[in-house]
Amino acid sequence: MRIVAFYSPKGGVGKTASAVNIAYLASADHLTTLLWDMDPQGAASFYLSGATRTKGKKIGKLLDGREPIADFIEENVYPNLDLLPAHPSFRHFDLKLEEDGRSSPLKEILAPLSEDTSLVILDCPPGQSRLTEHVLKIADLVYVPLVPTWLSLNSWGQFKELVKDKKLGSKKLRPFFTLVDRRKNLHKDLVDRNEELFDHPSRAIISYSSAVEKMGEKGQPLEILAPNSQPAAGYRQIWKEMKKELWR
Ligand SMILES: Nc1ncnc2c1ncn2[C@@H]1O[C@H](COP(=O)(O)OP(=O)(O)OP(=O)(O)O)[C@@H](O)[C@H]1O
Ligand SMILES: [Mg+2]
Repeated sequence: MRIVAFYSPKGGVGKTASAVNIAYLASADHLTTLLWDMDPQGAASFYLSGATRTKGKKIGKLLDGREPIADFIEENVYPNLDLLPAHPSFRHFDLKLEEDGRSSPLKEILAPLSEDTSLVILDCPPGQSRLTEHVLKIADLVYVPLVPTWLSLNSWGQFKELVKDKKLGSKKLRPFFTLVDRRKNLHKDLVDRNEELFDHPSRAIISYSSAVEKMGEKGQPLEILAPNSQPAAGYRQIWKEMKKELWR
């Protein structure tokens, strides 16, 4: 079982859109996939199935093992694609992890799925928290969407330093540009310098496109909704790279 997180300290940069589309592509590629919506806002659950966040269950029950993880999972949202939906109680995720005391509770929680699940995709909430550290610890790769601006690169630099300091594995970070508008000079310049700016970037570029907004309206991934759109091609590129790295 491989674990991939979509994470950024910044909000509204496309973590959830990316996580949902990649989870769908993996499942369509015949890999048994679980998408874990870790954000109490429940956007991934909404994007994937139009599900409201009340469908999920309390995080405390999952962390303290009162109920098995299987009871939290909505199976076959699409063939091969299961969803662990968010719940309002996920806002206490951090506090619960703090109280927990185990060094790797998320790994222990996911362990029962390891036989039947090839890939777990984690859609993380924004911000830097205890949850971030636990996610970074267990993830094989961490994809970080970045809007091509200087502030965003500054924030990326700080995050990379933190990961290095805490020895959470800076080599597994995979930054990629999202919400790209090539009509803007800065966007164009930074996107073209991708390889020079980062150690291990994804080659994918996700343009700004109204097709992505439609995911919210229809509750479907881009590969179904707008397979010919630029972001759909960008997500296929990310999936291609991810698959090659994780199962080479
Ligand atoms: N490539 C894109 N083109 C246009 N709109 C996009 C694109 N990617 C994401 N969006 C839109 O931007 C908004 C934020 O996207 P998303 O929810 O994926 O970001 P996020 O980083 O997960 O946000 P949060 O920090 O709140 O969890 C959404 O309305 C989404 O539809
Ligand atoms: Mg999100």
